[in-house]
Amino acid sequence: MYRTNTCGELNISNVGQEVTLCGWVQRSRDLGGMTFVDLRDRYGLTQLAFNMETNADLCQQARKLGREYVVQATGKVIERSSKNTKIATGEIEIEVTSLAVLNEAQTPPFTIEDVSDGGDDLRMRYRYLDIRRNPVRRNLELRHRMAMLVRNYLSDRDFLEIETPMLIKSTPEGARDFVVPSRMNPGEFYALPQSPQQYKQLLMVAGMDRYFQIVRCFRDEDLRADRQPEFTQIDCEMSFVEQEDVLQMFEGLAKHLFREMKGLEFDQFPRLTWHDAMRRYGSDKPDIRFGMEFKEVTNVVKGRGFGLFDSAELVVGIVAEGCADYTRKQLDALTDFVKRPQVGAGGMVYIKYNSDGSFKSSVDKFYDAQSLKAVADAMGAHPGDLMLLLCGPAMKTRVQLCALRLEMGNQLGLRNPQQFAPLWVIDFPLLEWDDETQRYYAMHHPFTAPKPEDEALLDDPSRWGDIRANAYDIVMNGVEVGGGSIRIHDSVLQNKMFHTLGFTDEKAYEQFGFLMDAFKFGAPPHAGLAFGFDRLCSLFGGADSIRDFIAFPKNNAGRDVMSGSPSPIAQDQLDELQIKVDVK
Ligand code: AMO
Repeated sequence: MYRTNTCGELNISNVGQEVTLCGWVQRSRDLGGMTFVDLRDRYGLTQLAFNMETNADLCQQARKLGREYVVQATGKVIERSSKNTKIATGEIEIEVTSLAVLNEAQTPPFTIEDVSDGGDDLRMRYRYLDIRRNPVRRNLELRHRMAMLVRNYLSDRDFLEIETPMLIKSTPEGARDFVVPSRMNPGEFYALPQSPQQYKQLLMVAGMDRYFQIVRCFRDEDLRADRQPEFTQIDCEMSFVEQEDVLQMFEGLAKHLFREMKGLEFDQFPRLTWHDAMRRYGSDKPDIRFGMEFKEVTNVVKGRGFGLFDSAELVVGIVAEGCADYTRKQLDALTDFVKRPQVGAGGMVYIKYNSDGSFKSSVDKFYDAQSLKAVADAMGAHPGDLMLLLCGPAMKTRVQLCALRLEMGNQLGLRNPQQFAPLWVIDFPLLEWDDETQRYYAMHHPFTAPKPEDEALLDDPSRWGDIRANAYDIVMNGVEVGGGSIRIHDSVLQNKMFHTLGFTDEKAYEQFGFLMDAFKFGAPPHAGLAFGFDRLCSLFGGADSIRDFIAFPKNNAGRDVMSGSPSPIAQDQLDELQIKVDVK
């Protein structure tokens, strides 16, 4: 037997027992008469004690142990004279009687402790060493606990976990596919699934009724802190349900996770329509941990000779409570912030509502105190508050103001990662216009059903932008953690949808024929949703980046710096696949 116990479980009640532990040498301290070694495994840290007087040979051996050596130590659990209250095993140590080096180790390229001296790149390159560190290990443990809770919750409610293929047909809608060449079918390619969407719908036609899968998905898109090229969904689908059933079921799952992981209870999650979310927060994933809702003042500010406001479709602002004392420098920094290309505003107008009731603004030339008071009243501002305004085309301006609102939320410490504000955003538009390609795209995906009351608008192309979908997102703290919809289950409506998206009959059949055929054999009404599992984990772990919750993530350039992928492949592999590579 390699070990009797782990390095995290022995305490004062074990004093006197003979034990054998295995683990990695975290550090050793040579104090002359005594040598102490901290032995680490997944479960914790235990101090090994070697006494020069009672066993000089063993002590000499211990002194030679390098960092990260893998060792096995046998000895007696004794009470420590100087206790460490910070760790669970801090009251005891092991008086070692025999020691075996199971494997030596090179000196690691960074310190394997809670706070490491290794930079991001280095830690990614030696990710297996990074995972030995407590913070990373804890993240993976959190992920495991979440996965278990999800599986049990859904299984208890009759959901079956069913695997769907990883090598599937490429579809042009959505993000870019990762493709895999087929050796047996030269010139032909599989795609890796962006999600199991069509398969889960087929499972509903197959009568499986309630499906889920914790499943890897692949999307070749630009990467950000909350996006990886391969990521994991909790993918779900249900038959014979309406939107309300789906929202209740998955709100239940989210509440279950909050209860079990965080000890938090929630009332019904608020619901915002997409239009309201855009109007009040300029985002379809609003962070509602704090207020600072948008106030539209277009009509209040027009007609005073300030050209920018006079010509703007929308003038909209936020009130930063108690910020009237912002300095010139702070205001300039905010202006610079909104002018950054990522935000893209032309500028920002500020109005300080001073504590003494006077006003100071960047547009004093055009607005007297009375007019500024009218703006303050319209925005619900009080003495001591700061108003920040943007103007321009309505939707664009809202999105810009959203960035400013979040920045103010950060600056004012209103975005506490330990506070959770979940909500549903519902009634998304069915279609989204794309200027570049001059056509409509499905905002969610082509299988999403329009609201029955808006279905007739499909016959009037001038109204396509107004059609609302039975589509919903679950949002927490400004992060879209999941999304889904009621599906079209009627093949006539599905055909109409394909036409709306610019598919000819042939093209639609070529792409989605198998689904259209299946729908002719009795498709039940069905609906579903997928959570982004990595995002859910990072949110529960209080971190911004999903990378921290993935064992072996890719970097921002989509590379695995540890294994060195992607990489060129050998010429004979290419030949076998009949692929010519011509990299410029
Ligand atoms: P959607 O495309 O909204 O829906 O994806 C569902 C959820 O997956 C997460 N997500 C990602 N997480 C990490 N990295 C990425 N690149 C990434 N892309 C998406 C998000 C998102 O809310 N088939 C539909 C679901 C359905 O209709 O049932 C779908 O995939 O948290």
